[in-house]
Amino acid sequence: MADLLLSTSSRHETLPENYVRPESQRPRLNEVAADANIPVVDMSSSDKIQIISQIAHACQSYGFFQVVNHGIPVELLTEVMAIALQFFRLPPEEKAKYYSDDPSKKMRLSTSFNVRKETIHNWRDYLRLHCYPLEEFVPDWPATPPLFKDIMSTYCKEVRQLGFQLLGLISLSLGLEEDYIERVLGEQEQHMAVNYYPQCPAPDLTYGLPAHTDPNALTILLQDQHVAGLQVLKEGKWIAVDPQPNALVINIGDQLQALSNGRYKSVWHRAVVNANSERMSVASFLCPCNSALISPPKKLTGEGSPAIYRSYTYAEYYSKFWSRNLDQEHCLELFRS
Ligand code: OGA
Ligand code: NI
Repeated sequence: MADLLLSTSSRHETLPENYVRPESQRPRLNEVAADANIPVVDMSSSDKIQIISQIAHACQSYGFFQVVNHGIPVELLTEVMAIALQFFRLPPEEKAKYYSDDPSKKMRLSTSFNVRKETIHNWRDYLRLHCYPLEEFVPDWPATPPLFKDIMSTYCKEVRQLGFQLLGLISLSLGLEEDYIERVLGEQEQHMAVNYYPQCPAPDLTYGLPAHTDPNALTILLQDQHVAGLQVLKEGKWIAVDPQPNALVINIGDQLQALSNGRYKSVWHRAVVNANSERMSVASFLCPCNSALISPPKKLTGEGSPAIYRSYTYAEYYSKFWSRNLDQEHCLELFRS
C-alpha cells in the first residue's frame, strides 16, 4: 500500500509504534566509534601494486573501503543525488504508480525492507531498479522527473565499468588472474537501490536499514555528501563511515566472501537515521548471473583450508536471502559445507 511510504506522509512528530525496536535491538548511537581507519584508495595512483595491497588489506579487515579519483565525473554524482531527491519529492499520486511490495518486481518503489514479512518497519523508502541490460529495463523506469532515466542510466554505465575494474583488482589481490571473478560470475546483473531516509523523530529507537550483509558480489555506494548514517561492524563495534568528498564506498558482498573462501569479508553494516536531516544514498549491486556456480577456486582451497561453503548457484542463494528477515544470522551460514 503506497500510503506506507514515509516520503509521502506529512512530517511525524513521534515515531509510530511499529517502527520502535525493542530495547535490546536499538542502535545505541552513543557507543558508535568515529570513522578513523576505513581505507581510502586513490584509483588514480600509478602504483598499481600499492592499490592492490590496499584493497587486499581493506577486504580482509573491514570488508569495506572508499575510492577517490575513481573516474566517474563528480558532476554526475551530484546530478544523481539531485534527481533522486526530486523523485522522492514527487506528489503522492505520482509515486503511487510505482509502488509495490513484491520483491520479485524489477522496478518498484517501496518502503522499509520487506513489508510483507516484517513486524517492525525501518525508516526508509527506496526505489529498486534492475539496470542490466539497460535497454531492457529503462523503458519501465519512472518517467518523472523528466531527466531521471537519462541521468540514472548514464550513472549505471559508469558504475558497471568501475565495478569491473574493481573486480579485476580484487582478483589480482587474491592471487588470481585479473578476469577470474568476472568470468565466474558470468553475465552479471546490476541492481540499484535509491534510498531515502527521512528526518526521524527518534533515531535512537529505529533504523534506516538494520544490520545486514549484502547478498550480491560487490556493492558501490554513493552516499549523501553531507549527512552520515552508514555504519560498519568491526570486532563487535559499530564504526561510522563518514562521507568523504566525491568518494564512493565499496563493500564485499556475500558472493565474494564465498568465492574467496572466507578470506574477504561480507561484513555487517547498517544505516541509522537522523533527527535533523533527511539522508540519501544510491547503492549499486553487481550480482552474479542466476546460473553462476559459486565455488572457491582451487588456488584458495586445499591443505589446511578446505572449502568453507558448499557450491551453490546464485539463484538458490538469492531466493533464500529474500525468504528471510534482514537481521537474522549471516545468510552464508546456511551454505556451510
Ligand atoms: C544497502 C545499504 C547503506 C546506506 O542499500 O544495502 O547498505 O548507507 N545502504 O544507505
Ligand atoms: Ni547494504
